[in-house]
Amino acid sequence: MGQFYIKGGIPLEGELRVQGAKNAVLPILAATILNQGESVIHNVPDLKDVKTMIKILESIGCSIKKEENTLIVNSSAIHTNEIPEYLVREMRSSIILLGAILAKHKQAKFSYPGGCDIGHRPIDLHLKSFRELGAEVMESHGYIYCKSNNLKGTHIQLDYPSVGATENIMLAASLTEGITIIRNAAKEPEIQELQNFLNKMGCKIKGAGSNTIIIEGVKKLNNVEFTIMSDRIVAGTFAVAAAITGGQIVLKDCYIEHISSVISKLIEAGCNVYSIEDKIVINSSKKIKAVETIRTLPYPGFPTDMQAQMMALMTVAKGTSIFTETIFENRYKHVSQLIRMGANINIDGRIAVVKGVNKLFGAKVTATDLRGGAALVLAGLSAEGETIVDNIYHVDRGYENFEENLQSLGASIIRKE
Ligand code: EPZ
Repeated sequence: MGQFYIKGGIPLEGELRVQGAKNAVLPILAATILNQGESVIHNVPDLKDVKTMIKILESIGCSIKKEENTLIVNSSAIHTNEIPEYLVREMRSSIILLGAILAKHKQAKFSYPGGCDIGHRPIDLHLKSFRELGAEVMESHGYIYCKSNNLKGTHIQLDYPSVGATENIMLAASLTEGITIIRNAAKEPEIQELQNFLNKMGCKIKGAGSNTIIIEGVKKLNNVEFTIMSDRIVAGTFAVAAAITGGQIVLKDCYIEHISSVISKLIEAGCNVYSIEDKIVINSSKKIKAVETIRTLPYPGFPTDMQAQMMALMTVAKGTSIFTETIFENRYKHVSQLIRMGANINIDGRIAVVKGVNKLFGAKVTATDLRGGAALVLAGLSAEGETIVDNIYHVDRGYENFEENLQSLGASIIRKE
């Protein structure tokens, strides 16, 4: 399964270019089936989830060429609207293909995506929206069947600003006759990036980034070339790496406004953080102060994908901090592992109370999900002695060359398979 061996206590220093965004490239790869032609996508991060999405697209008939971090997808020979179950099970977010396949092929058969380590993760909002667009949606024996020969643009009021549901509606409505209006839409930067890609392909979408998105359906789309934005969660993770090791680093090719909620918490914790054009500079203070409250919320609130990493930092802060995880019901699996390293954390449902300790101690710990795994690596970078993080395949799903990037900043971390 692979392990990281980490020796802690070294302040990180140096410059790092931030990789392309996982949560932007996945829906954009799904969108490549809409133009039945060629899409050239640059700055694609080399990640396990991207490899899975490539396997899925090839399984339905796309041809894909890879040149370093560029993918050339040709979707002119798609021959099926059914995705192999084992691939859907490998990656929950493959569900975003449903909207694109329905829009392009008028019917789709999908295995029900299971839950994952961080929660039950239903897709009721996705299916409700397809029904509102006029699709017949049947669920039986673990499969979802969607079909419609005449989807029609309509008003969709989302009960919750779900990222995935917003993306799926944008993909389904882009080739659907009429105007579709999404209210209470998700506002994440990845939604704006999907709008930018779709419009470059010839779609007519506006409002992404606000809670109202307007999509005017078009008949045909064209070939496209596009560069993926940098990953704000990866940038946030490295910013916390600087803070937890008492270091100072410069992150290149990333935008402070995308992680302003994280940066403001780091400043509250005593770090000095500022930006120069597309660079973010993080100077950590010697003793991190506890941030009283951290509540995860949809964008632009504090991202749930940074909760575990920020918690790792608060375990060695001066004082007590209270976390409230409002997005996913089971996203504290990293806590028991941090406690093995000497952290003082009490959980009560969605609330976690973290009492800062002087220092953590190296230990053998196990990653249980992507962001929880990254948090254990950060804790290991701060701990006294050696930490061994097991099951790092979780981390590989979202971080490209994680140990090499940390080594380039002076960290003592190696991978053993
Ligand atoms: C996206 O997941 C991200 N994944 C997640 O990042 C991220 O944590 C999440 O948004 C929230 O920011 C990708 O973009 C690939 P949601 P998604 O639909 O789209 C409930 C990472 O670490 N809900 O906004 O699945 C749901 O259960 C990953 O990179 C319904 O109830 O998130 C959850 O509680 C993890 N019904 C909440 O909404 C629905 O139909 C947010 O889910 C859909 C969602």
